[in-house]
Amino acid sequence: MATKGNGASVKNLTGTLHETSVEMSQELRAQMISLCNQQLANTSDLYSQTKQAHWNVKGMQFEQLHVLFDKMAESIQPYIDMIAERATALGGTALGTVRMAANTSELPEFPADVFDGETMLKVVVERWAQYANSIRAAATQADEAGDLETSDLFIEVGRVADKMLWFAEAHLQA
Ligand SMILES: [Fe+2]
Repeated sequence: MATKGNGASVKNLTGTLHETSVEMSQELRAQMISLCNQQLANTSDLYSQTKQAHWNVKGMQFEQLHVLFDKMAESIQPYIDMIAERATALGGTALGTVRMAANTSELPEFPADVFDGETMLKVVVERWAQYANSIRAAATQADEAGDLETSDLFIEVGRVADKMLWFAEAHLQA
């Protein structure tokens, strides 16, 4: 298992590598596919965790938070498919089941015993912040490795994540 600059471990998530006419070295493709599969797992996990918050939030701010959490989840959902298909476009194997995501995601599990609006919002903010920072790092890594298309996809996702993080975090400020 390799190590990133920040000390976090990087799993090998390349899976079966297929032939492709994409003009990119096999080594770079393998690295980018692995990066995509890590972000695929994170995105899938973040989506389900945000839905978990949407379903279970309680308290006087129920309506507002219930709607906000759904909006956040829906904003990130299309990228599950787009990230998976970037992995396959590079000749890789998308590792996209719920079980695969659970094994691979960098996010901690959502607590099952949190219901009150403010506490739940804080957990959601924590998860989205971790997610946004991870995809930002992945965008930089893809850029530095020379895969601008993968980097561009991660940048787009990161912009959405930052915006939704702001929507959630603003409730806890001022
Ligand atoms: Fe719903």
